[in-house]
Amino acid sequence: MVQQTLSIIKPDGTQRNLVGKIVSRFEEAGLRVVAMKRKLMSDHEAKGFYAVHKDRPFFGELVQMMTSGPVVIMVLEGENAVLRNRELMGATDPSKAAAGTIRKDFAKSIGENTVHGSDSPENARTEIQYFFSATEIG
Ligand code: CMP
Repeated sequence: MVQQTLSIIKPDGTQRNLVGKIVSRFEEAGLRVVAMKRKLMSDHEAKGFYAVHKDRPFFGELVQMMTSGPVVIMVLEGENAVLRNRELMGATDPSKAAAGTIRKDFAKSIGENTVHGSDSPENARTEIQYFFSATEIG
């Protein structure tokens, strides 16, 4: 089933100039970049995006990290894109991520874990709409 998912290259990824390497992994795995923007997320945008985590102890740190530099936000499209992207990313905690995954190869810590990806098709739809209008995707 062809799906779309949201991917974010986090500030620790853009700061280390890893955008091309990360996008190549998606493309080589058969995912297509159908929308892409680079921006500095505002405090308000980061808090809204991660609202489900607002009661977690790491929420402040998470918002601080996501607004600490530019991010690259993408819509990826392809067969089983949500799961495929999560496989390519690896586990949230890079010390638990499988060999060959983006987080195993590039992430510094659970907080600076280089990429975000939607965790379900439902959340993918919500997250895509949070950052992109329909006319920006194609
Ligand atoms: P992400 O996939 O973007 O979704 C939520 C983020 O919260 C997650 O990646 C991590 O970067 C971050 N996160 C999860 N657990 C912790 C933690 N214990 N400490 C700091 N950040 C965390």
